[in-house]
Amino acid sequence: MATATKWNRDSWRNRPIQQVPEYPDKAALEAAEATLRHYPPLVFAGEARRLKANLANVAAGNAFLLQGGDCAESFAEFHPDNIRDTFRVLLQMAVVMTYGAAMPIVKVSRMAGQFAKPRSAPTETIDGVELPSYRGDIINGMEFTPEARNPDPARMVQAYNQSAATLNLLRAFAQGGYADLHKVHQWTLGFVKDEVQIEKYRRFADRIQETLAFMEACGLTGETVPQIRETELYTSHEALLLPYEEALTRIDSTTGQWYACSAHMVWIGERTRQLDGAHIEYFKGINNPIGIKIGPTVKPDDLMKLCDVLNPNNEAGRLTLISRMGAEKVAANLPELVRAVKREGRNVVWVCDPMHANTVKSATGYKTRVFDSILAEVKAFFAVHSAESTHAGGVHFELTGKDVTECVGGTQGVTEARLGDRYHTHCDPRLNASQALELAFLIAEMLKDERARTLQSRKNQAVAAQ
Ligand code: PEP
Ligand code: CO
Repeated sequence: MATATKWNRDSWRNRPIQQVPEYPDKAALEAAEATLRHYPPLVFAGEARRLKANLANVAAGNAFLLQGGDCAESFAEFHPDNIRDTFRVLLQMAVVMTYGAAMPIVKVSRMAGQFAKPRSAPTETIDGVELPSYRGDIINGMEFTPEARNPDPARMVQAYNQSAATLNLLRAFAQGGYADLHKVHQWTLGFVKDEVQIEKYRRFADRIQETLAFMEACGLTGETVPQIRETELYTSHEALLLPYEEALTRIDSTTGQWYACSAHMVWIGERTRQLDGAHIEYFKGINNPIGIKIGPTVKPDDLMKLCDVLNPNNEAGRLTLISRMGAEKVAANLPELVRAVKREGRNVVWVCDPMHANTVKSATGYKTRVFDSILAEVKAFFAVHSAESTHAGGVHFELTGKDVTECVGGTQGVTEARLGDRYHTHCDPRLNASQALELAFLIAEMLKDERARTLQSRKNQAVAAQ
């Protein structure tokens, strides 16, 4: 056990660390850290607190979290069209779910900072040549050369700059008119050519337009109700690269508390959640809403310890548990965890990541995910919460607004043979825009059922209490 010392943004340095590379050039590392320490925070602590309040609402069963975006952002794919397209598909999914389930959807992107990747092996061997694994553009380059694979601290500064520009555009889209609900039809312009999803979405957009007209007749317009003309989109990423995170960890002048200012929400990955490890130590002291990936090996006791350490005051909205079991394992593994959390009265948000334990290799050698397995994991997740009378609080997807061919299946019918057509990801396979929208329609139905069940049981409780 490490001895208990006062937390500071650098106290993680005294703990064993996983998945963060040794930088060969220490002077360059210190220079990059010093540069970042003087750069402005990317988010304001007040925004992180606002997200925490929204997530507390999710924990209470009154809202739903939609978290999604790239597996790994990259320097090469940095383009306004890519940012717009991912923003747009998140917006479409959120609108479909809000309307379908009559529930507020909290939108959190995996964008503007989602660069560092944990890897299953530290090195990669191709044709007998062994080199360090690619760990995301914030650390090294994807090209299979010794130079590219060398961890370069200057990449942290480039990732910061790209995050700042991305966030700036996201804020502009969210508040500058693009997200105005009156534009619900226009969001399909330039959308991928999946007629089934487009038609379904068009019909749905017609209904929203009718509702807006009715509301307008009642005096509720974009002028009087800002929620009609703008939206809130928060940012998140896996806070893996602690030297980068530390440099952007600041004291909030209004509360005197520490916040990670690289994103509104940050999470701990499946491979870095050791209780005595550096990542848990770092996360203990920041006051943001945080997530933690919960894989199939986690037992109820482990989970309780994680809750104790990461959320000692049992604050609602602070802790999001992101379950990533694999479609086949949810039914066996999740119920005992959900029960333990409920029994111990822990305030958490339960989220389903149906991507990370459903990765397979195609016959053609591509790392892929099958749409039906992704859907099966989400369904199994909802079924567990229905059986336990708990709230399925959200979903976490790797997706893009582009028409890529990385995941197999969906009505658009991406086949294994077609995976090579547009396989662009820098890490894991992402849902394309039409697969993402298709899931949103299906989840809206699940959420609607859950909502009806919750409202009914609240009614029953009220009657019983009379
Ligand atoms: C990820 O979210 O990209 C990731 C690596 O997930 P996990 O830690 O759950 O494997
Ligand atoms: Co991933």
